[in-house]
Amino acid sequence: MINSSVTDIPRAFTWKGDHLLLLDQTRLPLHQEWLRLENLEEVCEAIKMLRVRGAPAIGVAAAYGAALEIRRIYGAEPANAALNADRWLHRFRQITATLRSTRPTAVNLFHCMDRMDRIAGEIALDWKDQFEPIRAAERMEEEAIAIHSEDENLCSAIGGFGSTLIPDGASVLTHCNTGSLATGGIGTALGAIYTAHLQGKRLSVFADETRPLLQGGRITAWELFEAGIPVRLITDSMAASVMARGEVDLILVGADRIASNGDTANKIGTMPLAVLARHFGVPFYVVAPTTTLDPSMDSGATIEIEERDPDEVRKFQGNFSAPPEVEVFNPAFDVTPGDLISGIVTEKGIHRPPYDFRALMAQGQPK
Ligand code: MRU
Repeated sequence: MINSSVTDIPRAFTWKGDHLLLLDQTRLPLHQEWLRLENLEEVCEAIKMLRVRGAPAIGVAAAYGAALEIRRIYGAEPANAALNADRWLHRFRQITATLRSTRPTAVNLFHCMDRMDRIAGEIALDWKDQFEPIRAAERMEEEAIAIHSEDENLCSAIGGFGSTLIPDGASVLTHCNTGSLATGGIGTALGAIYTAHLQGKRLSVFADETRPLLQGGRITAWELFEAGIPVRLITDSMAASVMARGEVDLILVGADRIASNGDTANKIGTMPLAVLARHFGVPFYVVAPTTTLDPSMDSGATIEIEERDPDEVRKFQGNFSAPPEVEVFNPAFDVTPGDLISGIVTEKGIHRPPYDFRALMAQGQPK
């Protein structure tokens, strides 16, 4: 199937009112299996196992998870004296705390949970005298839907700015998956590529396979192929060779957390691309919404890097590809120094080094 408009692109999930219908990304590209998630436990499992992944998508899915769970627990209860606002709020914050513990690096998750907690706190205070759990659950659902819809708009705006960096005929290299399956909209780095394609620009993409979980091969290559955008899959270690051959005009990647000075945590294997880009004189851009900025961090040094199951490295397609007992180091992300980044594209425009996102962040996160 060749898609010709952004409305046709695959979506990570759809909100169904009483459940979240989620595409299991671990099964791609061979199987398109949709999961019906109805409670906190199922949403947490989906995030931990990377059935849904990508910083913005994790945040949106978690917001829906919080809304689902609070309604599952109290949503059918009419106002009653036993369930006061404080007890409801305490329970809601336990739910968001559980969601926060699923994955540590992508900051969007924490921003979304902060926002859901803030709204929950406001309604618990405002409605204290006559607290209605049904109405409270509806309000939390509304907020999750708003987060989703805002992320969709952020992606479109980023796509517009990002596409200006892509000349007609360009060859773009990307890493991991930053497309519609990683966000609530058309994507970030891949969103810029989709937008340029829809503008009629001819372009081609090198997709890094992205060891060890192959988000590039399984998801990015699939998304681009479905969209009819020419894509060539390479293993991560081939990036230097294609750059040395002069076959890459620019590199576009996403982000999981960006510190004030532009240091950027993204999928493991991103930093070597930035180093190579500097060596070969290839522009290297990070494309992400301001919801991926972390105002609390001066530099990337304090970003917590998730370490995942050693078997992700020791095994390939379920079989050991290394001695079963061998020690493994499996960080899921690395941090690219801001001074190796030619520009950071957000929905507000293209920011150039030296970065100082404090002023921008002082204007507030979107909502
Ligand atoms: O471990 P993942 O698949 O969640 O990692 C995803 C990435 O690193 C993406 O590049 C990043 O989240 C940006 S998604 C728009």
